[in-house]
Amino acid sequence: MRKFFVTGGAGFIGSAFVRLLLDEFPSCEVTNFDALTYAGNPDNLEGLDSLRHYFIKGDICDGDAVFAALAENTDAIINFAAESHVDRSIASADEFLRTNILGTQVLLDVARARGVKRFLQVSTDEVMGSLPDDERAFFTEDSPFRPNSPYAASKAAAEHLVRAAHHTFGLDTVITRCGNNYGPRQFPEKFLPLLLANALNDEPIPVYGDGLNVRDWIYVDDHCRAILLALEKGRSGATYNIGARNERRNLEIAKSILDQLGKSHSLIKFVKDRPGHDRRYAIDPTLVETELGWRPRESWESGLRKMIKWYRSHTDWLERVRSGAYREYYARQYGAEVGAP
Ligand SMILES: NC(=O)c1ccc[n+]([C@@H]2O[C@H](COP(=O)([O-])OP(=O)(O)OC[C@H]3O[C@@H](n4cnc5c(N)ncnc54)[C@H](O)[C@@H]3O)[C@@H](O)[C@H]2O)c1
Repeated sequence: MRKFFVTGGAGFIGSAFVRLLLDEFPSCEVTNFDALTYAGNPDNLEGLDSLRHYFIKGDICDGDAVFAALAENTDAIINFAAESHVDRSIASADEFLRTNILGTQVLLDVARARGVKRFLQVSTDEVMGSLPDDERAFFTEDSPFRPNSPYAASKAAAEHLVRAAHHTFGLDTVITRCGNNYGPRQFPEKFLPLLLANALNDEPIPVYGDGLNVRDWIYVDDHCRAILLALEKGRSGATYNIGARNERRNLEIAKSILDQLGKSHSLIKFVKDRPGHDRRYAIDPTLVETELGWRPRESWESGLRKMIKWYRSHTDWLERVRSGAYREYYARQYGAEVGAP
């Protein structure tokens, strides 16, 4: 019986990964350890097999709680738990340093103490900073660390701690770094679900600056399949960049979503740029493709269709998420320029 310990599994990507594990390994057990911050959502776990999926509410910075929750002979810890939104890290970095750095170290310590076989750290391309607007420039696994936001800096620090645990203590670790994910169940403060949610309600769509920033988009289930491959077949101590070779400018994305929904481009509203806004991310996924045999299954068009279909058929999920704390965040971030959600 394989035993997995997933942190942050009530969030966007973590919940997709828990689903994938339960589907791929019919006899595995998954402990899902999540603090249920504003971004964690029990609705994301609806329908999971309660005989094989155990949810525990807890904070990864609390070593005793992690220790107690970790089952004997756990095969792997997969760490998704994080403060994950750049804009929030610019407003205040404290929680980012606590969860993303301290929390990762706590997990590494407990993994060693309990003899966990493998530790997988889910990281981001943002640790490598920003690329020039030149289609020949890509992030590789050897690109230098150049984090530009407090979020990216905290994720870079976490990677250093994972590397140190491998080098110093021989812990079996793997790091995966991915670009921007899209798909079902993403909290609508992030660009794509925010666009979609606002467009569905005929509300203005805030686009930062000139809208020409480039991101490398990947469908969430493709990301999760790459993480699973890295977990199963990745070299100990290795880092894998994961990307679907799908660079898009923010403005192009806004227009294509409005087109798919049959809405007018006049909903686009340019707002003051994010301070220090990275211009371009683009990932070279050659290593994960050649060494692990990974390929994305979704094209940009098929992934987007799936995402739109999901949000359209889960308006209750969206409305619950958009009430409460989200309204306060939105008013603070965009209120003066585009009004309330
Ligand atoms: N979303 C992306 O496009 C993207 C891209 C690359 C990497 N990542 C990384 O993937 C991971 C998951 O991202 P996401 O978009 O699903 O994030 P998310 O914000 O949707 O989910 C994060 C989850 O972590 C939980 N959490 C936060 N602090 C915690 C703590 N102290 N203890 C336990 N749980 C805690 C939250 O409750 C939430 O369920 C993060 O590590 C992020 O850095 C995300």
